Amino acid sequence: MEPVEIAKDIYCLSAIDWNIRDFHGYSTYQGSTYNAYLILDEKVTLIDTVKAEFAEDLLAAVSQLVDPRSIDIVISNHTEMDHTGGLPRIMHRIGEKKPLYCSKMGYKNLSRHFSQEWNYQPVENGGQLNLGKRTLTFLETRMLHWPDSMFSYCPEEKILFCSDAFGQHYASLERFDDQVGESIMPHAKKYFANILMPYSPLVLKLVDKVTELGLALDMLCPDHGIIWRQDPSRIINAYVEWSTQKPKRKAVVVYDTMWHSTEKMAEVIAEALARQGVEVTPMHLRTCHRSDVVTEVLDAGALLVGSPTLNNGIFPTVADFLTYLKGLKPLNKIGAAFGSYGWSGEAVKIVGKQLEEMKINVIDAGVRVQYVPGESEFKACTELAAKIAAALPKP
Ligand code: FEO
Repeated sequence: MEPVEIAKDIYCLSAIDWNIRDFHGYSTYQGSTYNAYLILDEKVTLIDTVKAEFAEDLLAAVSQLVDPRSIDIVISNHTEMDHTGGLPRIMHRIGEKKPLYCSKMGYKNLSRHFSQEWNYQPVENGGQLNLGKRTLTFLETRMLHWPDSMFSYCPEEKILFCSDAFGQHYASLERFDDQVGESIMPHAKKYFANILMPYSPLVLKLVDKVTELGLALDMLCPDHGIIWRQDPSRIINAYVEWSTQKPKRKAVVVYDTMWHSTEKMAEVIAEALARQGVEVTPMHLRTCHRSDVVTEVLDAGALLVGSPTLNNGIFPTVADFLTYLKGLKPLNKIGAAFGSYGWSGEAVKIVGKQLEEMKINVIDAGVRVQYVPGESEFKACTELAAKIAAALPKP
């Protein structure tokens, strides 16, 4: 771990997790990073830590700059263990009685994670902390994405230490947006879709609040991935767009299949949608990870879900996907179900009901096919696609 100076006497200390491929159910094909920040001021201040297994690396990186025992203040912007797992080791090394600043809810949650009686300093929303030449202002961001989340803002440097917001699961030696270019945006979008989608209305309110406060922002420093310094408004505007979930003329056709019947239906539906100018990709749930599917769902206007009937129910991967998606509370979508069956055929009805439960507007009873689709069944798939295409925003 090499400290990177991001502004005079302010360092980003990134634990690069090159090999993580599963982050609590989210596929991280390009690993991740856990970013802590060190401010060398009259009060030496550490903002956030890292996963437990990287705590010694963080201490070694701090040691390249100062004796870890000279850290005066630790700030926890958010309790999740990828940023606090290292706290016991860090606090033990720097001194258990050093003040640990967090939100009021952070105090409760940290106490439930760790048995140590640290010197907690819960802060109010808008509370300020003087570090010497610089100050920090704390902004509560409840449920973005934990109840204890907060941002720490340094007005003298125009830097927002924004915890999980604006992050990306992306392992690299580059630390800034201008070093990686546009290629970072799909990672930021996937992160938003999988972590922040359920809180879209709160994101919009937060952006309004930040605009109202008139915070000058030269740099957004998230706890994962690269720092936004070239044009912080680019990612803020992207968050506004993603939070709005304005439906595009785009459909996701997600499915699983046992003997290729539901797969053939998916392909016919996708081709028919494409002929009508709908952006569409069929996504097989044993080829595409659930977290990649929901990234596509984020800005799609339509979701079509195909499942064979297995033992009177829906296929397990489809159940997994629907459970995952329900928690992400997608907005502004139409949908429908389709699938093949042998002798009972409950899957289409079950999928349709689950889509309705997540407030997706199911505009058709769905297409059910016994055993293998033929000409008339493909016609029904094409008609379903036409109905979906007609209900999507026009090109
Ligand atoms: Fe919510 Fe990166 O932890």
